Amino acid sequence: MKIALVTGGTGKIGKEIVLYLLKENYEVVVTFKDSKEKVKELKKKAGLLSENLIFFKCDLSNLKGIDKLLSQFKLKYSQLDLLINAAGIFIKNDFENTTEEEYDYVMNLNLKSNYFLAQKFSKIMTVDSVIINFSSVGGLIPWKGRSLYNLSKSGVIALTRSLALELAPKIRVISIAPGYIETESDKNDIEKMPLSKIPLRRYGKIDNIIKTIDFIIKNNFITGIVIPVDGGRSLI
Ligand SMILES: NC(=O)c1ccc[n+]([C@@H]2O[C@H](COP(=O)([O-])OP(=O)(O)OC[C@H]3O[C@@H](n4cnc5c(N)ncnc54)[C@H](OP(=O)(O)O)[C@@H]3O)[C@@H](O)[C@H]2O)c1
Repeated sequence: MKIALVTGGTGKIGKEIVLYLLKENYEVVVTFKDSKEKVKELKKKAGLLSENLIFFKCDLSNLKGIDKLLSQFKLKYSQLDLLINAAGIFIKNDFENTTEEEYDYVMNLNLKSNYFLAQKFSKIMTVDSVIINFSSVGGLIPWKGRSLYNLSKSGVIALTRSLALELAPKIRVISIAPGYIETESDKNDIEKMPLSKIPLRRYGKIDNIIKTIDFIIKNNFITGIVIPVDGGRSLI
Protein backbone atom coordinates (compact mmCIF):
# COMPACT_ATOMS: atom_id res chain seq x y z
CA MET A 1 0.00 0.00 0.00
CA LYS A 2 1.25 3.51 -0.86
CA ILE A 3 1.62 6.11 1.86
CA ALA A 4 0.48 9.73 1.50
CA LEU A 5 1.03 12.63 3.89
CA VAL A 6 -1.51 15.46 3.61
CA THR A 7 -0.74 18.54 5.70
CA GLY A 8 -3.85 20.56 6.48
CA GLY A 9 -5.90 17.47 5.70
CA THR A 10 -8.76 18.68 7.90
CA GLY A 11 -9.23 21.79 5.74
CA LYS A 12 -12.02 22.42 3.23
CA ILE A 13 -9.93 21.19 0.31
CA GLY A 14 -7.61 18.99 2.38
CA LYS A 15 -10.34 16.69 3.70
CA GLU A 16 -11.68 15.94 0.21
CA ILE A 17 -8.15 15.12 -0.97
CA VAL A 18 -7.84 12.69 1.93
CA LEU A 19 -11.13 10.95 1.01
CA TYR A 20 -10.01 10.71 -2.64
CA LEU A 21 -6.64 9.19 -1.66
CA LEU A 22 -8.27 6.61 0.60
CA LYS A 23 -10.44 5.52 -2.33
CA GLU A 24 -7.26 5.28 -4.43
CA ASN A 25 -5.91 2.78 -1.86
CA TYR A 26 -3.44 5.04 -0.12
CA GLU A 27 -2.78 4.85 3.59
CA VAL A 28 -3.14 8.52 4.53
CA VAL A 29 -1.39 10.47 7.25
CA VAL A 30 -3.21 13.72 7.98
CA THR A 31 -1.90 16.68 9.93
CA PHE A 32 -4.03 19.33 11.59
CA LYS A 33 -3.38 22.17 14.03
CA ASP A 34 -6.31 22.33 16.49
CA SER A 35 -9.56 21.12 15.07
CA LYS A 36 -10.39 17.86 16.83
CA GLU A 37 -14.02 18.14 15.68
CA LYS A 38 -12.95 18.12 12.03
CA VAL A 39 -10.84 15.02 12.73
CA LYS A 40 -13.89 13.21 14.09
CA GLU A 41 -15.98 14.33 11.12
CA LEU A 42 -13.35 13.15 8.62
CA LYS A 43 -13.02 9.74 10.31
CA LYS A 44 -16.79 9.38 10.12
CA LYS A 45 -16.87 10.35 6.45
CA ALA A 46 -14.11 7.86 5.66
CA GLY A 47 -16.24 5.04 7.08
CA LEU A 48 -14.56 1.65 6.77
CA LEU A 49 -11.59 3.24 4.99
CA SER A 50 -10.73 5.11 8.21
CA GLU A 51 -8.60 2.15 9.23
CA ASN A 52 -6.10 3.49 6.67
CA LEU A 53 -6.20 6.97 8.14
CA ILE A 54 -3.96 8.36 10.86
CA PHE A 55 -3.87 11.88 12.34
CA PHE A 56 -1.01 13.92 13.78
CA LYS A 57 -1.60 17.22 15.52
CA CYS A 58 1.23 19.64 14.81
CA ASP A 59 2.09 23.26 14.25
CA LEU A 60 3.99 23.41 10.96
CA SER A 61 4.90 27.08 11.26
CA ASN A 62 8.14 26.15 13.00
CA LEU A 63 10.89 23.60 12.50
CA LYS A 64 10.24 22.00 15.87
CA GLY A 65 6.74 21.03 14.70
CA ILE A 66 8.08 19.67 11.40
CA ASP A 67 10.78 17.62 13.15
CA LYS A 68 8.22 16.24 15.60
CA LEU A 69 5.99 15.22 12.71
CA LEU A 70 8.90 13.47 10.98
CA SER A 71 9.81 11.50 14.12
CA GLN A 72 6.18 10.46 14.70
CA PHE A 73 5.88 9.49 11.04
CA LYS A 74 9.07 7.41 11.13
CA LEU A 75 7.87 5.44 14.14
CA LYS A 76 5.20 3.96 11.91
CA TYR A 77 6.48 4.21 8.32
CA SER A 78 9.82 3.87 6.57
CA GLN A 79 8.80 5.47 3.29
CA LEU A 80 6.55 8.10 1.74
CA ASP A 81 5.04 8.07 -1.76
CA LEU A 82 3.09 11.32 -1.86
CA LEU A 83 3.37 14.59 0.06
CA ILE A 84 0.58 17.14 -0.32
CA ASN A 85 1.22 20.47 1.36
CA ALA A 86 -2.27 21.88 1.87
CA ALA A 87 -1.82 23.50 5.29
CA GLY A 88 -2.00 27.24 4.96
CA ILE A 89 -3.56 30.47 6.09
CA PHE A 90 -5.62 32.84 3.91
CA ILE A 91 -5.34 36.15 5.62
CA LYS A 92 -5.71 39.87 5.01
CA ASN A 93 -3.05 42.27 6.22
CA ASP A 94 -2.97 46.02 6.40
CA PHE A 95 0.29 46.85 4.61
CA GLU A 96 0.90 50.11 6.51
CA ASN A 97 0.67 48.39 9.88
CA THR A 98 1.96 44.90 9.21
CA THR A 99 4.12 43.63 12.05
CA GLU A 100 7.15 41.38 11.87
CA GLU A 101 5.19 38.80 13.83
CA GLU A 102 2.39 38.72 11.22
CA TYR A 103 4.94 38.58 8.40
CA ASP A 104 6.82 35.68 9.99
CA TYR A 105 3.71 33.64 10.76
CA VAL A 106 2.31 33.79 7.22
CA MET A 107 5.68 33.11 5.58
CA ASN A 108 6.52 30.35 8.04
CA LEU A 109 3.28 28.48 7.57
CA ASN A 110 2.56 29.08 3.89
CA LEU A 111 6.11 28.91 2.54
CA LYS A 112 8.83 27.85 4.98
CA SER A 113 6.92 24.71 5.98
CA ASN A 114 6.81 23.58 2.33
CA TYR A 115 10.59 24.05 2.08
CA PHE A 116 11.49 22.08 5.17
CA LEU A 117 8.83 19.39 4.77
CA ALA A 118 10.31 18.72 1.32
CA GLN A 119 13.87 18.81 2.66
CA LYS A 120 13.16 16.38 5.49
CA PHE A 121 10.62 14.01 3.93
CA SER A 122 12.34 13.76 0.52
CA LYS A 123 14.96 11.60 2.22
CA ILE A 124 12.38 8.86 2.79
CA MET A 125 10.39 9.41 -0.40
CA THR A 126 10.35 6.62 -2.96
CA VAL A 127 11.49 6.70 -6.59
CA ASP A 128 8.69 8.24 -8.73
CA SER A 129 7.08 9.88 -5.73
CA VAL A 130 5.34 13.27 -5.89
CA ILE A 131 5.14 16.48 -3.89
CA ILE A 132 2.16 18.78 -4.49
CA ASN A 133 2.35 22.29 -3.05
CA PHE A 134 -0.76 24.45 -2.73
CA SER A 135 -0.22 27.95 -4.09
CA SER A 136 -3.14 30.21 -5.05
CA VAL A 137 -4.34 32.68 -7.66
CA GLY A 138 -2.92 35.19 -5.17
CA GLY A 139 0.52 33.80 -6.03
CA LEU A 140 -0.03 34.61 -9.72
CA ILE A 141 -1.77 37.99 -9.51
CA PRO A 142 -1.66 40.27 -6.46
CA TRP A 143 -4.78 40.92 -4.41
CA LYS A 144 -4.90 44.27 -2.64
CA GLY A 145 -4.93 43.93 1.13
CA ARG A 146 -3.32 40.48 1.09
CA SER A 147 0.35 41.26 0.40
CA LEU A 148 1.68 38.66 2.82
CA TYR A 149 -0.55 35.94 1.42
CA ASN A 150 0.36 36.91 -2.18
CA LEU A 151 4.06 36.91 -1.37
CA SER A 152 3.96 33.55 0.39
CA LYS A 153 1.98 31.93 -2.43
CA SER A 154 4.28 33.38 -5.14
CA GLY A 155 7.09 31.90 -3.12
CA VAL A 156 5.42 28.49 -3.25
CA ILE A 157 5.52 28.63 -7.07
CA ALA A 158 9.21 29.62 -7.11
CA LEU A 159 9.95 26.95 -4.52
CA THR A 160 8.15 24.30 -6.57
CA ARG A 161 10.35 25.06 -9.58
CA SER A 162 13.54 24.93 -7.51
CA LEU A 163 12.53 21.74 -5.74
CA ALA A 164 11.65 20.08 -9.04
CA LEU A 165 15.28 20.60 -10.09
CA GLU A 166 16.73 19.68 -6.71
CA LEU A 167 14.74 16.48 -6.39
CA ALA A 168 14.72 15.19 -10.00
CA PRO A 169 14.81 12.49 -11.20
CA LYS A 170 13.53 10.81 -8.04
CA ILE A 171 10.65 13.08 -7.05
CA ARG A 172 8.29 15.23 -9.13
CA VAL A 173 7.18 18.53 -7.61
CA ILE A 174 4.11 20.39 -8.83
CA SER A 175 2.03 23.28 -7.57
CA ILE A 176 -1.72 23.87 -7.83
CA ALA A 177 -3.00 27.45 -7.75
CA PRO A 178 -6.71 27.32 -6.95
CA GLY A 179 -9.04 30.20 -7.59
CA TYR A 180 -12.22 30.54 -5.56
CA ILE A 181 -13.24 26.96 -4.75
CA GLU A 182 -16.79 26.91 -3.44
CA THR A 183 -17.75 24.57 -0.63
CA GLU A 184 -20.97 24.18 1.40
CA SER A 185 -19.58 26.41 4.16
CA ASP A 186 -18.88 29.26 1.71
CA LYS A 187 -22.47 29.54 0.47
CA ASN A 188 -23.08 32.69 2.55
CA ASP A 189 -19.57 34.11 2.29
CA ILE A 190 -20.05 37.84 1.86
CA GLU A 191 -16.48 38.31 0.65
CA LYS A 192 -16.93 35.89 -2.21
CA MET A 193 -14.99 36.83 -5.33
CA PRO A 194 -17.45 38.50 -7.78
CA LEU A 195 -18.25 36.25 -10.73
CA SER A 196 -17.50 39.19 -13.05
CA LYS A 197 -13.81 38.69 -12.20
CA ILE A 198 -13.82 35.07 -13.32
CA PRO A 199 -13.75 34.59 -17.12
CA LEU A 200 -15.62 31.26 -16.89
CA ARG A 201 -18.30 33.02 -14.74
CA ARG A 202 -18.50 30.27 -12.13
CA TYR A 203 -16.73 29.19 -8.95
CA GLY A 204 -14.53 26.15 -8.80
CA LYS A 205 -15.70 22.90 -7.23
CA ILE A 206 -13.67 20.59 -5.03
CA ASP A 207 -13.93 18.04 -7.83
CA ASN A 208 -11.87 20.37 -10.07
CA ILE A 209 -9.05 20.14 -7.53
CA ILE A 210 -9.38 16.36 -7.12
CA LYS A 211 -9.25 15.84 -10.90
CA THR A 212 -6.07 17.96 -11.01
CA ILE A 213 -4.46 15.91 -8.27
CA ASP A 214 -5.40 12.70 -10.05
CA PHE A 215 -3.84 14.05 -13.27
CA ILE A 216 -0.62 15.09 -11.47
CA ILE A 217 -0.19 11.75 -9.72
CA LYS A 218 -0.85 9.70 -12.83
CA ASN A 219 1.12 11.77 -15.38
CA ASN A 220 4.75 11.01 -14.59
CA PHE A 221 6.30 13.28 -17.24
CA ILE A 222 5.40 16.58 -15.63
CA THR A 223 7.33 18.40 -12.94
CA GLY A 224 8.16 21.94 -11.84
CA ILE A 225 4.94 23.52 -13.10
CA VAL A 226 2.08 25.43 -11.55
CA ILE A 227 -1.46 24.51 -12.59
CA PRO A 228 -3.99 27.30 -12.05
CA VAL A 229 -7.43 25.85 -11.33
CA ASP A 230 -9.18 29.18 -11.34
CA GLY A 231 -11.70 29.57 -14.17
CA GLY A 232 -9.27 31.98 -15.84
CA ARG A 233 -9.10 34.37 -12.87
CA SER A 234 -5.32 34.77 -13.16
CA LEU A 235 -5.68 35.97 -16.78
CA ILE A 236 -7.18 39.32 -15.83
N1 LIG B 1 -10.24 27.12 -0.51
C1 LIG B 1 -9.88 27.88 -1.54
O1 LIG B 1 -10.74 28.39 -2.28
C2 LIG B 1 -8.41 28.12 -1.83
C3 LIG B 1 -8.04 29.02 -2.85
C4 LIG B 1 -6.70 29.24 -3.13
C5 LIG B 1 -5.71 28.57 -2.41
N2 LIG B 1 -6.07 27.70 -1.41
C6 LIG B 1 -4.98 27.00 -0.70
O2 LIG B 1 -5.25 25.62 -0.68
C7 LIG B 1 -4.80 25.04 0.55
C8 LIG B 1 -5.98 24.29 1.20
O3 LIG B 1 -7.04 25.22 1.40
P1 LIG B 1 -8.25 24.96 2.38
O4 LIG B 1 -9.38 25.82 1.91
O5 LIG B 1 -8.47 23.48 2.53
O6 LIG B 1 -7.70 25.57 3.77
P2 LIG B 1 -8.45 25.61 5.18
O7 LIG B 1 -9.83 25.08 5.10
O8 LIG B 1 -8.25 26.99 5.74
O9 LIG B 1 -7.57 24.58 6.06
C9 LIG B 1 -6.30 24.92 6.51
C10 LIG B 1 -5.62 23.68 7.07
O10 LIG B 1 -4.33 24.06 7.55
C11 LIG B 1 -4.20 23.67 8.94
N3 LIG B 1 -3.37 24.64 9.66
C12 LIG B 1 -3.65 25.94 9.92
N4 LIG B 1 -2.63 26.49 10.63
C13 LIG B 1 -1.70 25.52 10.80
C14 LIG B 1 -0.42 25.45 11.44
N5 LIG B 1 0.12 26.51 12.07
N6 LIG B 1 0.24 24.27 11.42
C15 LIG B 1 -0.28 23.19 10.82
N7 LIG B 1 -1.46 23.18 10.18
C16 LIG B 1 -2.16 24.34 10.17
C17 LIG B 1 -5.63 23.65 9.47
O11 LIG B 1 -5.69 22.83 10.65
P3 LIG B 1 -6.94 23.05 11.68
O12 LIG B 1 -8.17 22.58 10.92
O13 LIG B 1 -6.61 22.22 12.86
O14 LIG B 1 -6.97 24.53 11.97
C18 LIG B 1 -6.36 23.05 8.26
O15 LIG B 1 -6.17 21.65 8.25
C19 LIG B 1 -4.28 26.20 1.41
O16 LIG B 1 -2.87 26.26 1.29
C20 LIG B 1 -4.91 27.43 0.77
O17 LIG B 1 -4.13 28.60 0.93
C21 LIG B 1 -7.38 27.47 -1.11
